[in-house]
Amino acid sequence: MSILNQVKLNFELEINLPPVMSKPVVILGIESSCDETAAAVSYNDKILANVVATQKIHEAYGGVVPELASRAHQLHIVPVVDQALKQANISKKDIDAVAFTNGPGLMGALLVGASFSKSFALALNVPLIEINHMQAHVLAHFAQKEGTETRVPEFPFLCLTVSGGHTQIIVVKDHFHMEVIGQTQDDAAGEAFDKIGKLLHLPYPAGPVIDKLAESGNPLSYKFPHPHAPGLDFSFSGLKTAVMNFLNKEVQKDSHFIENNINNLCAAVQNTIVTILIKRLEQAVQQTGISQIAIAGGVSANSGLRKALKEQKGWTLFIPPFEYCTDNAAMVAITGYFRYKAGLFNDQNSSPFARFQGL
Ligand code: KG4
Ligand code: ZN
Repeated sequence: MSILNQVKLNFELEINLPPVMSKPVVILGIESSCDETAAAVSYNDKILANVVATQKIHEAYGGVVPELASRAHQLHIVPVVDQALKQANISKKDIDAVAFTNGPGLMGALLVGASFSKSFALALNVPLIEINHMQAHVLAHFAQKEGTETRVPEFPFLCLTVSGGHTQIIVVKDHFHMEVIGQTQDDAAGEAFDKIGKLLHLPYPAGPVIDKLAESGNPLSYKFPHPHAPGLDFSFSGLKTAVMNFLNKEVQKDSHFIENNINNLCAAVQNTIVTILIKRLEQAVQQTGISQIAIAGGVSANSGLRKALKEQKGWTLFIPPFEYCTDNAAMVAITGYFRYKAGLFNDQNSSPFARFQGL
């Protein structure tokens, strides 16, 4: 018998799965796929607590260092969960299930969240629910912030998910059926912001910094190319190379070129990335006939993107609250709630995956 089979047998535990939906459902959500350690508590579709510990340690390295991320998750996970439970005013015995990000993400980082969640669910004798991080970004649109009533999209809708690791246009058919109709062939949109920000000597993550500096710059001051990609796909690595070549040339003429033109450079880079995203979305709307548009992922916080979307005629827009855009556990808890209602549970044999495998 293989070791895996032995493990499987040893973990055939008796968990009494609850009858589907007879009382309100409380989910503890855990997110640890990259550099945010996060925990949230949901009560049906209401988010009672959403705690995020962002790992500052990576700033010094200009990008996420996987080994350091795992260690930081290990350090933060218990205090973050403790704080979420206190904020939600929920005792451990009120939790109906533990939902956790199972991938895609950094393997070492995912393992911390997965191990914690398995142990917690085991100790409480409640079901465990695996969550696909990319699906959770989309379903963040259904999370209701306590005290507010957020308008939610109707199925089917299109979701532009733009983060540090992914750039996708998704047809969302229902809570569990989603189809990727366009994606990046190389760098993600957030990665483009971050890598170009590094060339501009900006701190990591550069996306929000570029956004801020672009406010007082002219988006048309420099023209950068739109790299070619087929169909509804994207390509951003050529943009980074074009900006690098342009900067090298200008810095040879004026060593202070970057500092002296930082606002215009940021505005032009942001405008290029936003224009590429909007053009593809326009094509997607035309192809699918769907004009309900949702945005998700860290880059959806970008003010240039939000402005450009609002200028589109005939689109119904869904933009989640800022704290549900970047990595968070509210999106994990709400996805867990939908899976719980559908009776979709996992067991202790679950094991994280690093690469995107579909939705
Ligand atoms: O979704 P997220 O928090 O983590 C991933 O799953 O990747 O996204 C992080 C990405 C980073 O690349 C960051 O630079 C970018 O989102 N980002 C932004 C803004 N805020 C975060 N990019 C552009 N403008 C922003 N305001
Ligand atoms: Zn993310």
